[in-house]
Amino acid sequence: MRVGVIGAGYVGLTSAVCLAERGHHTVCVDVDEARVRQLSSGVATIDEPDLPELLERGLRTDTLRFTTSYRALADRDVVFVCVSTPSMPDGSADLRAVDAAVGELATVLRAGAVVAVKSTVPVGTTRRLADRLRPNGIHVVSSPEFLRESHAIGDFRHPDRILIGSDDDTGEGGPADLVASLYPPGRVLKMSPESAELAKYASNAFLAVKISYTNSLAELCARVGADITDVTRCMGADMRIGAHFLQAGPGWGGSCLPKDTAALLHTGREYGVALPEVQSARTTNAAQAVRIADAVGRTIGTPTTEARVAALGLTFKAGTSDVRDSPSLTVCGELIARGAQLTAYDPRLAAIDGEMLRAAAIVGVDDPYLATKGADAIVVLTEWPQFCELDWARIAEQAPGAVVVDTRNLLDAAMLRELGLTYLGNGTGGGF
Ligand code: NAD
Ligand code: UGA
Repeated sequence: MRVGVIGAGYVGLTSAVCLAERGHHTVCVDVDEARVRQLSSGVATIDEPDLPELLERGLRTDTLRFTTSYRALADRDVVFVCVSTPSMPDGSADLRAVDAAVGELATVLRAGAVVAVKSTVPVGTTRRLADRLRPNGIHVVSSPEFLRESHAIGDFRHPDRILIGSDDDTGEGGPADLVASLYPPGRVLKMSPESAELAKYASNAFLAVKISYTNSLAELCARVGADITDVTRCMGADMRIGAHFLQAGPGWGGSCLPKDTAALLHTGREYGVALPEVQSARTTNAAQAVRIADAVGRTIGTPTTEARVAALGLTFKAGTSDVRDSPSLTVCGELIARGAQLTAYDPRLAAIDGEMLRAAAIVGVDDPYLATKGADAIVVLTEWPQFCELDWARIAEQAPGAVVVDTRNLLDAAMLRELGLTYLGNGTGGGF
């Protein structure tokens, strides 16, 4: 199949290299010239396991190419739209990139081609785009993406569901089947475009609700002397609840959960449905940085204005260099606003967007021992497994009596206490 992908970000690039791996001749279009140049020279632009190898193979076998020219899509059978849909100030999804991409497609695509919208878009968008392209004989279906950053290639290769929203499908072999056939084998769910669009937002919002509930329970655990890891161990053993997304942390972040919960609430407001569960999840999430900074302030024994704080982890989760909407940055920002002198270490510091760190006034250092030297408090913000392997005896020597606030419950509490450090877990005994 001749396939096109618009947008070479997390979703577009992953889809492009994986579609090429499946043998489809794939052309990926992006407006970012530097990104296209870098990818064309075989250098990956994002941090994802297996991506560099697939990129190299696609380019070498001529099944994959990158360009800034939409004209390269003229002969495509199917084109996936994977451009960004960030938040507008009122929480709604900014659809300018999607509309720009579809505007270009209207001028180049041949009649009979199918456009599959992978970008996360609000209810009604696919139908609107379908109306726009119908006069050109082009079909539009919704095909929301569920991959996770840091597992993107694996998630594409082994999808737990393939969602296709389409109702201009007259039966077998129509646009929905054509799009589904491009993916690796998986459970295909077909429904209306409206249901598919809403199912994507509903899934992300449910994950956010689950984590916020866990974080609220963690706060209660610390007050009543219970342990959140035991509480969620029990909850997760119930198949109806499921064991995933029950890890207490500094709040959920990343490029999607925050913007998608905001966009879902915006849609709710448009249609007069309040969705209080989603609103609550956002409120709980926004409170986490204050809860963590309060725990630091309560325990260090010096005013926060005179405190030296080391932050371990800046990315929004482990396994990525992505700091977009990272809760780590929010917590660092809260501590800096309270007057703390903060230095931060992250294993992927070199790959992190320096502009974002400067904007947040965060000083990054590329050595964990330098970052923690002389610290009154060490705040663990990202669940990098490397933090467990640090030489904590050396850290305890360089920062005697420091308070370790482990927002991810990652470290060995008993070992740290033995070293003379004060350990505070998130919702665990003696914690916050
Ligand atoms: P991204 O910001 O990483 O990449 C978007 C790419 O689109 C950029 O390279 C940008 O230059 C390009 N672009 C913007 N406008 C363009 C245009 N008019 N023509 C061509 N290229 C254009 O975004 P992302 O994280 O890949 O997310 C893309 C969409 O997929 C969003 O709607 C997001 O909500 C959704 N999504 C993301 C993930 C994820 O894990 N990141 C997972 C599922 C769904
Ligand atoms: C999320 C969804 O998991 C994907 O299915 C979806 O496709 C994607 O958003 C999207 O639409 O973009 P991702 O943003 O990569 O994927 O991140 P997650 O793994 O979901 O983590 C989100 C946040 O929740 C992170 O800050 C993470 O640290 C936090 N988290 C996650 C917890 O605090 N506790 C948990 O138990 C799980």
